Amino acid sequence: MSLILLGPPGAGKGTQAKVLEQTGGYVQLSTGDMLRIAVAVGDRVGHRAKNIMDRGEFVPDEIMVGLIADRLDQTAHKPFILDGFPRTEGQALALDLLLKEKNRFLRAVIELTADDEELVGRIVGRFTCDGCGEVYNDEFRRLRVEGICDLCEGSKFSRRSDDSEEVMRNRLKAYHSYTAPLLSFYRKQGLLRSVDGMMAVEEVASQIRAILEG
Ligand code: AP5
Repeated sequence: MSLILLGPPGAGKGTQAKVLEQTGGYVQLSTGDMLRIAVAVGDRVGHRAKNIMDRGEFVPDEIMVGLIADRLDQTAHKPFILDGFPRTEGQALALDLLLKEKNRFLRAVIELTADDEELVGRIVGRFTCDGCGEVYNDEFRRLRVEGICDLCEGSKFSRRSDDSEEVMRNRLKAYHSYTAPLLSFYRKQGLLRSVDGMMAVEEVASQIRAILEG
């Protein structure tokens, strides 16, 4: 039942992966989160990734494939959600090999479709709870009580350094140049399904569940 969530920055991959993790027993494998941890820790990967991420470009394939290979082993045999990987043809080919080697299978590759201009608005409004990682938005997903996380009641929040409008436009360019071509790669494998990522979070989640149960 493992899956890939594919879509432009801000389409809701992380939001939907967390819904599935909380309700469906999945393990979220977010390469963006892995890189942000490496940057915070200041390890070798973090040093190489920091400036690349701040420009909205892609970290080299060999680093990303290494990260995912390690983390796939740690999921044991729980179903996983790949969020932010693969992003290039090289990563997709490497993933096919890794999955074969490990005898793991994908149920679907779910594309979240979205309008670029709306996504810029979503990204500049995003903030995250430092305590539990819950993702919010100034406009689309506000806190129920100002300054307090709905889930863990923490009161510290962060904004990502790559969530400015200028960097977001670079991230969108990278998506359209290198990641969007993967849609036909997975369509040819019979795995691709599309969901309108501009619907409400709950509606997107219910369509994803229907695909996985279908
Ligand atoms: P990564 O962290 O993966 O960023 P991204 O792909 O740009 O995706 P985002 O996390 O920005 O968006 P999302 O789709 O998860 O949306 P979210 O649910 O948060 O990667 C960061 C960087 O790391 C990359 O730029 C690159 O440098 C590097 N990197 C990572 N993986 C790599 C790889 N494989 N290869 C090379 N480099 C790699 O939602 C966004 C906002 O919208 C939130 O505020 C949310 O509340 C809101 N929202 C979500 N859904 C909805 C909805 N349905 N309606 C209204 N608002 C919504």
